[in-house]
Amino acid sequence: MNHSKTRILCLSDLHIGRSPERSQGAIHLVQKILEAFGGQVVKPLLLFTGDITDDGNEGQCLQAQAILQPLRAAGFSLEFVPGNHDYGWNGNLASSTSYQLFQKHILQNPDLAYPRLVQVGRHFILLLDSMQAENHWYDALLADGELGDSQRKIFEKHLIFLQGLRSTGAKVLVALHHHPFLYPDESLVYHLKNVLGHELKDGEEFMNLVIGKIDALVFGHEHRHIHFGEHLRQFRIPEKYQIPLLLSCGSSSGIDDPNPMPGIAQGLHAWLIEIEEKGNGQITATPWGQE
Ligand SMILES: [Fe+2]
Repeated sequence: MNHSKTRILCLSDLHIGRSPERSQGAIHLVQKILEAFGGQVVKPLLLFTGDITDDGNEGQCLQAQAILQPLRAAGFSLEFVPGNHDYGWNGNLASSTSYQLFQKHILQNPDLAYPRLVQVGRHFILLLDSMQAENHWYDALLADGELGDSQRKIFEKHLIFLQGLRSTGAKVLVALHHHPFLYPDESLVYHLKNVLGHELKDGEEFMNLVIGKIDALVFGHEHRHIHFGEHLRQFRIPEKYQIPLLLSCGSSSGIDDPNPMPGIAQGLHAWLIEIEEKGNGQITATPWGQE
């Protein structure tokens, strides 16, 4: 146990209910977390960046609730942002009903709304719902996302407020499900697919808001487990956005693709973020949980 560090374990894309293997993978993940941290007085905060379930129906939400319950019972703090799969069938048919089920069973609080500001020690996480503006009949199809004007405006107010605290050493992390920029190593076909129904529509507006104003950005959606400052160093993405830590979270319940894309290792994906509370206050991320 190390009290000189604030720890956040980033988890994503469990897709509980997609297959027996995925659900079993989520159970395995919970066991690993309990074994690693369950006995510690100060536990890492568990941050889930969306796609907890595969279809957002009540059966899967109840299954997810039951799988995650041992973590709550052991005293962990769990924070979530929803993904497109939490909003409806196969991540392609967003509905307010599924979101209400997410609030009831996953968040376990129907009053929680996004953007949501969470404090961890003296640091802050801003949680965003990248499906919030995707809930209308004309754009609920496919797997793209949109934060929307109203959420971005409130988010910006939080961000401005937090800059003063950053100057005193507090770190600001932002979490959302959709990747807010395109992966720089992907093909033209991939980029076309993204534009046609997989991307964050207001990603550029969002990145313009956060440039130089946050210390870490974490997201899921693409199931690639990437530390942009290390794995795709040549593209200089952290420098472009002036964000030291940029993490694509991968899938924490295991990979079921027999031919994964580059950057996707088989097995359980998670990032352990650590913030030094002494010295220079460095923020780092290391892979966690791979066997
Ligand atoms: Fe996913």
